[in-house]
Amino acid sequence: MKQPIIIAIDGTSASGKSTNAKLVARALGYVYVDTGAMYRTLAWYCLKSRIDVQNARAVAAACRKWKTKLECANAGGLRAVRLRVEDYFPEKEIRTPETAAAVPHVAAIPRVRKWMVKRQRECVQFGNLVMEGRDIGTNVFPETNFKFYLDAKLEERSRRRAADGVQENLAARDQRDSQRATAPLMIGLGAKVINNSSMTSEQTSTAILEEIRKRLAAK
Ligand code: DC
Repeated sequence: MKQPIIIAIDGTSASGKSTNAKLVARALGYVYVDTGAMYRTLAWYCLKSRIDVQNARAVAAACRKWKTKLECANAGGLRAVRLRVEDYFPEKEIRTPETAAAVPHVAAIPRVRKWMVKRQRECVQFGNLVMEGRDIGTNVFPETNFKFYLDAKLEERSRRRAADGVQENLAARDQRDSQRATAPLMIGLGAKVINNSSMTSEQTSTAILEEIRKRLAAK
């Protein structure tokens, strides 16, 4: 059977991963997977269930027991994977400042990461993927030939978040994501690094697509 193609897009917070991953998925007709949304969903679930996100044992136990399902939904022509919890997808709730503050704690727990990586690998059931996150090229699909690492200057990334109406300390979150012991944010072997501080998303996604086509032709 033909193996699905995995495009891994990792990078710092607000480096344009989501925007570009969606543009690339649309252009190629691949399925989009936002793995940050999966970690955010667990953080939201813990907050809702009054589980202390700093209590690794309690969070890991909740993650072992919660009732979830992966689904591939069509959102405005883009096929995207969602993790439903008790048959609900908390689309808005996972974007609140409270969830954003809780998520790095949840994402640092090794047993949570193990669970998430397993679900993320299961997404190949939906076909070719554009998957964005922090450890896709290093940990989830380290064997893929299509790895990208996006970054931009901190001032520019903070400006982008503020333009989206979100105030948050990106430097603190990046530091936690880069310094955690399990699967820290790193540039994957063979990844194409794109610093898009002064690039539009159209320019960034075009650069990604050109590189994918080059690598596909060399296969
Ligand atoms: O991309 P995002 O801001 O939605 O990610 C939310 C958090 O989840 C972020 O703090 C990093 C973490 N994360 C991770 O550790 N590994 C991933 N593959 C994706 C996200």
